[in-house]
Amino acid sequence: MEILANYPLKRLNSFGMAITTHRFATFSSVDELLFLLQQKKEEGDAALPLLILGGGSNMLFRTNFPGWVLKNEIKGIEELHEDVDYVYVRAGAGENWHSFVQYCIDRGWGGLENLSLIPGNVGASPMQNIGAYGVEIKDVFWDLRALHIETGRVQTFTIGDCDFGYRESVFKTKFRNQYVILDVTYCLRKKPLLNTSYGAIQQELSAAGIQQPAIRDIANAVIHIRRSKLPDPAEIGNAGSFFKNPTISAEHFTRLQQTHPGIVGYPVPGQQVKLAAGWLIESAGWKGFREGDAGVHPKQALVLVNYGNASGADIYALSEKILHDIEAKFQVKLEREVNII
Ligand code: FAD
Ligand code: EPU
Repeated sequence: MEILANYPLKRLNSFGMAITTHRFATFSSVDELLFLLQQKKEEGDAALPLLILGGGSNMLFRTNFPGWVLKNEIKGIEELHEDVDYVYVRAGAGENWHSFVQYCIDRGWGGLENLSLIPGNVGASPMQNIGAYGVEIKDVFWDLRALHIETGRVQTFTIGDCDFGYRESVFKTKFRNQYVILDVTYCLRKKPLLNTSYGAIQQELSAAGIQQPAIRDIANAVIHIRRSKLPDPAEIGNAGSFFKNPTISAEHFTRLQQTHPGIVGYPVPGQQVKLAAGWLIESAGWKGFREGDAGVHPKQALVLVNYGNASGADIYALSEKILHDIEAKFQVKLEREVNII
């Protein structure tokens, strides 16, 4: 375990930002993590910021990082136990998310197939309650173990402790920067219950002539849809959706429908409507926009991209312009989904 100084992070963040961090190290066990936390203190860096890194696919670095970046590489997948209907599977935080999903599909365990091909690692999956195509991690979450950075104590969090919401959890709010997630246990179905509620999945299955889909067919449909519109970070730097889909009142939505008849929104509980932010950004004329190497993806307006040499500040400045424009045109305040560092 080496502690490296002024370490370049370009290959470790999916936006491809060419920045460095004051200190960098990886850990693959709790003991290694505790050792590194101790070293940070002993080197007189206790007051410097600490960042736990997974796959780096949901963060935008605006400048060099002035503290310690510790990359979680805790591995291992373990079937803890099973009952008549479910299998309880624990995965180390450093396992690649998509490989883990494939591992479960290979064994016929249902629940994660709609979340295929989301970049990043297992440890970040509860952070923002990752979601796609009608499923969120909270639907299959059992518990997680996390180390409290201040005390070094390992605690278990069950679903009731996590306050999962749309792209939210306690680890982004009241416990922000306080815990390192070590592993996550998911409760998966031995007799899968398919979720094909998302229209595009139905269309993919029909196009492939599949009438009785298995979980692998759902995964393949999701993979196909994602590849058709989301840029591959290996080719174009990005962190997926840059903004969240905003929620507005039903009354506000009705007003917007009068001036913008095509506006896309879905009713949600509490007389509210969740808007497709991609629609707002496209309608405001930003889709395909490019300024230097910072741009808005031509196939998905919710995704900001780095065509090569954009800085984090360039991407952030573009996001500011979009935010202000959407507020001026629709009186809707967008919120960033990506973690801004
Ligand atoms: P990182 O970017 O490394 O970290 C994200 C945050 O979690 C940071 O604050 C970090 O400090 C913290 N963190 C990471 N690991 C730990 C840990 N073990 N303990 C404590 N804190 C930790 N997200 C979706 O929800 N749905 C999608 O459909 C989706 N599609 C995407 C498509 C593309 C092309 C891309 C690039 C991203 C997409 N994302 C999506 C966002 C991203 O993939 C997820 O948020 C993913 O969970 C991030 O994982 P990561 O390991 O890369 O996290
Ligand atoms: N739309 C447009 N123009 C665009 C993009 C979208 O008009 O350029 C409209 C379309 O009407 C479309 C609707 O928006 O029907 C929804 O688009 P899409 O199905 O692509 O999903 P999204 O709302 O843009 C969300 C998540 C994605 C997730 C998909 C699939 C957020 C912020 N984003 O995107 O998550 O993969 O749904 O479930 O909730 C991520 O978090 O990084 C991410 C990619």
